[in-house]
Amino acid sequence: MTVCEAPGKVYLFGEHAVVYGEPAVPAAIERRATVTAEPRSDDHVRVEAEDLSLDGFTVEYTGGTGDRPDVDVPTPLVEAAMGYVDAAVEQARDAADAPDAGFDITVESDIPLGAGLGSSAAVVVAGIDAATRALGEPLDRRELADRAYRAEYEVQDGQASRADTFCSTMGGAVRVEGDDCERIEAPNLPFVVGFDGGAGDTGELVAGVGELREEYEFAADTVESIGDLVRTGEALLEDAVPAGDAAAGAEPSPELLAELGELMDFNHGLLAALGVSARSLDAMVWAARDAGAHGAKLTGAGGGGCIVALDASDATETALSFTQGCEEAFRAELATEGVRVVEP
Ligand code: MEV
Repeated sequence: MTVCEAPGKVYLFGEHAVVYGEPAVPAAIERRATVTAEPRSDDHVRVEAEDLSLDGFTVEYTGGTGDRPDVDVPTPLVEAAMGYVDAAVEQARDAADAPDAGFDITVESDIPLGAGLGSSAAVVVAGIDAATRALGEPLDRRELADRAYRAEYEVQDGQASRADTFCSTMGGAVRVEGDDCERIEAPNLPFVVGFDGGAGDTGELVAGVGELREEYEFAADTVESIGDLVRTGEALLEDAVPAGDAAAGAEPSPELLAELGELMDFNHGLLAALGVSARSLDAMVWAARDAGAHGAKLTGAGGGGCIVALDASDATETALSFTQGCEEAFRAELATEGVRVVEP
């Protein structure tokens, strides 16, 4: 039995624009998906899922990834979860050159599904890592991140960047621009997350931005402006913690927090202009700002799900917990370690 766990993430800046080659800076957070893989003697895959923000379910199906299980929970949620597990198993089989390998897979996660915290990427990264290790063919991190990206790309019909999967694999803060992915040094940013209890449809939201971008030059300019904003944010981080500096993980200065927060506010406005915010997300963003957060924005695809704010005090978390439409508010520590083995 092999157990691996991978972190979720928040976007400091750059979601959606990253799909069109602009840079983005996501940061891994200490909320993890844990995947257990136990090889079977046949080619079946049995999946047991718990805590995926849906009623737990157990399904068993044969090796063919076209099979769909017969279970008593809402089909779209099961299909979403199963699609990612299927794709992870396929990548593991391919990497280990074991096309008929069967597994008992268990997924446990404390990352809300589809809410902008990278739940699917964490499941895919931990799943490929656990399954390849269980087959005696562990992957190096770069290949693991690449295969996890390919799995997401396939499930999301080609509408995925490398940002979520690279961040979940490597941990810490990362910079992604097209195929260029690297870890960057970052101080210990005081993230506070507000969750509206819902989820957005990433595929639909990404397609919506794509259509706007095609239709209006000013929408294309908005996407480019997000890229400019990300470059400005990166420069701030780089000045605060030069590459390789021991100050990585140190407490950020009030000036840095104020400047990053201002860019986050700006980023939220541009995402709202692109039509990917929601009333609940706007309400949480404003509650955070009113409570004195340095800045706040939606994180991930939008449409519903989570916002992220910067505030080292308790004020934002408290305000969010009293905000109508906010189901859960929590502080999210930066996860400096990416995917890790819990049981080899
Ligand atoms: C979703 O978490 C982030 C998007 O930028 C899509 C992607 O990068 O794959 C909206």
